[in-house]
Amino acid sequence: MERIPEPELMDEQEQAAAYAAADWSESHGKIPGYFRERFPQFTRGRVVDLGCGTADVTVRFARAFPDITMVGVDGSTAMLAFGRRHVRQAGLDSRITLENRYLPDAALETRSFDAVICNSLLHHFADPVTLWRTAALCSKPGAPVLMIDLVRPASHAVAVGLVKEHAKDAPPVLERDFIASLHAAYTIDEVQQQLRAAGLPSFPVDQVDELHFVGWGLAPADYRG
Ligand SMILES: C[S@@+](CC[C@H](N)C(=O)[O-])C[C@H]1O[C@@H](n2cnc3c(N)ncnc32)[C@H](O)[C@@H]1O
Repeated sequence: MERIPEPELMDEQEQAAAYAAADWSESHGKIPGYFRERFPQFTRGRVVDLGCGTADVTVRFARAFPDITMVGVDGSTAMLAFGRRHVRQAGLDSRITLENRYLPDAALETRSFDAVICNSLLHHFADPVTLWRTAALCSKPGAPVLMIDLVRPASHAVAVGLVKEHAKDAPPVLERDFIASLHAAYTIDEVQQQLRAAGLPSFPVDQVDELHFVGWGLAPADYRG
């Protein structure tokens, strides 16, 4: 089906509150494992979470890798307010810092992180090549980069079926966002084209379940975008 973009930032209070209250363990719980399987050597350093939202993935990742520190960045004040509370409640203030940044952000790209993770942000970008470039530019040469997002289904009917199956008890605002995100998501072919355009043609794109892909690789040395 044709892609239908959705708004970039998630700055509605009700939307942020629903995200913060939801149980993401089924999908987000797998993310540290996706990373570990692909980058088994990585154990320590400074990791950035692009589009961290309410910091659910950030907190899970910090718990899974006890020797890392993390910076989460997001352009939504509402999402970050819930994120800061979540980090505090998790007792991870000393290891996780959240920053209000609208991507792409030139200052972030000077910071040479040891790894980059990014969940469910790509489909918000009208120019997704920019996000792949941002991920590589803010990494040290050779740093792991892992991006996870939804795969756009073949039709609206399939999207509706996926929402019924995976979000049956979700509040209406999350159901609305889920269907919108499925329409805004990119296909595997489109993601592969984005990677070629971003100068990251060797990054594999793995479809890991009926909803998600994982795009990943090591940031090239001398990457200029
Ligand atoms: C679907 S949420 C995912 C949040 C988080 N990664 C997670 O998995 O729970 C997408 C997040 O990206 C943020 N976002 C979208 N476009 C952005 C941009 N250009 N710069 C910074 N944040 C952005 C939104 O505000 C929202 O918090």
